[in-house]
Amino acid sequence: MKKVLVTRRLLRSNEEKIKKLWNANLNLNDEIYSSEKLIELSKDCDAILSSILDKIDENVINKLSEKIKIISNFAVGFGNIDINAAKKRNIVVTNTPDVLTNATAEIAMLLILGAARRAAEGMKRARQKNWNWAADFLIGKQLSGSRLGILGMGRIGRAVAERARPFGMEIHYHNRKRLKPELEQGAIYHKDIKSLFSVSDILSINCPATEETINIINSKTLQYFPTGAIVTNSARGDMIDDDAMVEALKNRKIYALGIDVYKGEPDIHPGYLNHPEVFVLPHLGSATKKTRTEMGDLAINNIEEFFQTGKCKNQVN
Ligand code: GLV
Repeated sequence: MKKVLVTRRLLRSNEEKIKKLWNANLNLNDEIYSSEKLIELSKDCDAILSSILDKIDENVINKLSEKIKIISNFAVGFGNIDINAAKKRNIVVTNTPDVLTNATAEIAMLLILGAARRAAEGMKRARQKNWNWAADFLIGKQLSGSRLGILGMGRIGRAVAERARPFGMEIHYHNRKRLKPELEQGAIYHKDIKSLFSVSDILSINCPATEETINIINSKTLQYFPTGAIVTNSARGDMIDDDAMVEALKNRKIYALGIDVYKGEPDIHPGYLNHPEVFVLPHLGSATKKTRTEMGDLAINNIEEFFQTGKCKNQVN
């Protein structure tokens, strides 16, 4: 029987499946393993089923046992793994695309609505019983008639566009490649971020974290936005230079921020927590029972497919 290290707890139905398939090293306390512990616990394993908080960098990869041939990440993003270092050691890395597209696009819409309509402030005032209806009370920004810029028009970006259109938003996007018209669905392509940001009343970040996208929102690029724009991020915290964003919120270049993902999670930049116009969520993008179950099933299937065929269609390296 193959031996697999599962670095975090999964939903019960996924763990039941795992116990039937493999000699599994499950993490019953759901502790976040240090690199040393991950290396130690995976010593006699054939595979690792990892999660986004496992930092599997070059140093870790190079210390993994020769037996490990696949790392199946329980996420669509795989910025936590050095996929090139893994490739050099002939370790296949896989992700869980598609199954979390809808759940993540729903959270992206929540961020857009929450930031634009001042939901965080509204909830705080309601809970404090510190409010009274007034014509000018907590006036926000309306989605209908506004321009939504989507940075990264992959599966999730397109699902955000599909949801934003019925809100009456005009869709603009930037992507490494222009999409075919049937995928564009009338969305307006911008060949660079300057052009996209300059028409984004609201920006939704939906690109992967790569060397090119790290800190793509920074003090220079924030100047491209119309004054009073809203930025939302349901992808990865890496894309935003947080100090520059806090400054832009303070000087009102940026009206509001809706954010689900952070650099160095679970830490959140104090400037966000202190700022009333920041709508913060704790990385809930894929957090529905349906999606988490399907992600677990896919992460398991990826390993099984690899064990049986030596390949996997969701390989990313
Ligand atoms: C979640 O953040 C994912 O990448 O799946």
